[in-house]
Amino acid sequence: MTGAGRRRLGAPWRRRRPLRTRLALAVTSAVALVALGVCTAAFFVVRGALYDQLDLSLTQAARLAAQRNPDSGPDTLAGECRFLAAPACAEVVPADPARDPARPYLLPVDAGTRAVAAGRRAPYYTSIVHAGHPTRMLTTDYTKGQALQVALRADTVEAGISDAARWLAVIGAAGVLLAAVLGYWVSRTGLAPVTRLTATAERIAATRDPRHRIELPPPGREDEITRLAGSFNTMLGELEQSVTAQRRLVADASHELRTPLTALRTNAELLARGERLTVEQRERASLALGRQLREVTGLVNDLIELARDEEPQPLVEQVRLGRLVEHCAQAARAHWPSVPLVVRSTDEVVVPGVPARLSRLLGNLLDNAAKFSPAGVPVEVELTVRGGRPELTVRDHGPGIAPQDLPYVFDRFYRAGAARALPGSGLGLAMARQIARAHKAELTAEAAPGGGALFRLTFGA
Ligand SMILES: Nc1ncnc2c1ncn2[C@@H]1O[C@H](COP(=O)(O)OP(=O)(O)OP(=O)(O)O)[C@@H](O)[C@H]1O
Ligand SMILES: [Mg+2]
Repeated sequence: MTGAGRRRLGAPWRRRRPLRTRLALAVTSAVALVALGVCTAAFFVVRGALYDQLDLSLTQAARLAAQRNPDSGPDTLAGECRFLAAPACAEVVPADPARDPARPYLLPVDAGTRAVAAGRRAPYYTSIVHAGHPTRMLTTDYTKGQALQVALRADTVEAGISDAARWLAVIGAAGVLLAAVLGYWVSRTGLAPVTRLTATAERIAATRDPRHRIELPPPGREDEITRLAGSFNTMLGELEQSVTAQRRLVADASHELRTPLTALRTNAELLARGERLTVEQRERASLALGRQLREVTGLVNDLIELARDEEPQPLVEQVRLGRLVEHCAQAARAHWPSVPLVVRSTDEVVVPGVPARLSRLLGNLLDNAAKFSPAGVPVEVELTVRGGRPELTVRDHGPGIAPQDLPYVFDRFYRAGAARALPGSGLGLAMARQIARAHKAELTAEAAPGGGALFRLTFGA
């Protein structure tokens, strides 16, 4: 298996932790890190302060010793050094080991001490253990090539440091615990809207019902997540509308198909018993069958057209509307020879679109106008540019559209009472409006002044 293949397969195995856990862990780690950092820093500050105080006492003790015995030799200051409480235990160490006193030093003497005595090194503090006690010692320069070592017991300081360490450890642990609680709380409250969003999405996936919505907080309390939930609700609204429209289309289509299909079946059954019919009856039945088949085919084709949505982009081209109108008028004239078609085109108009679809739109308008026009009365088609927007009007002198029908003529399968006697399924205008919308144009119907119907197609809406 290739590396990439393995990586692809590997993805589901190494499932990531849920977002809530990750967020809780991140918050906990961040707060815990800060708590531990603060405790550690506090420990070093406390330790430093305690040692500083002890070192200050040592410096004062050294100064006192020097003032008391400014000329003392190695032996004079060396004492018992037993209690190590103030006054401090002190001893003088010469740079030259040959001048050491007869008895051994009580405090540790090394090369560093000799170097301070010889003036080669700056004074320094050391922590030592003396007679089983923690002790702090200052080695500083003294007179005439000698160093002074002063020591103080550091038990109380060490005890203070241990105490501070213990307390800070307890506080640090409490901080980590608090961080964990905070992390859990932050992830819970912060991700609550996301959880709701996920639950709703899952419910929709399970029930396939897009009517569900996510509950939104009252206005004024929106944040990024509630905005996301709002967009999700809008999307659900659109989805619901689209699903409802599709369902209605299917219901309407099946209802509309039922009548012609019944008529088809009746005629087909009639023809099946052909031997009992006269030649004339057979001919009439087969003619009706042919017509009904054409009707059903037309209806099905219209439904397929309506089910389409956007215009396929590769088919979009710059369409010269004048020529397209002339072409459609020619076709309509051939189809409706009794109705004169007058085309007036004042401007050369070019719009982006799919020529076949625009022809279909125009064909429907011309077909309606001719269908409803009395014979011999002209249908007027006009192409102009109004307010910078191309506009096409189709006007007839027929009965017009009753005001109560006007809002519905673009609905699928809608046919006004007066039109029921004429052929048609009520899909033409629905399709025309859909094509117009896909071309970012607006198609409206109105009553023409002086009677008749007027359809207006405005581009660039
Ligand atoms: N020019 C018009 N004059 C009067 N009424 C019209 C006109 N055009 C459309 N209508 C009304 O609008 C209805 C819907 O028109 P539409 O073109 O959608 O359907 P149709 O012509 O009945 O059938 P189809 O176009 O599917 O063959 C018509 O049935 C008719 O009542
Ligand atoms: Mg029509």
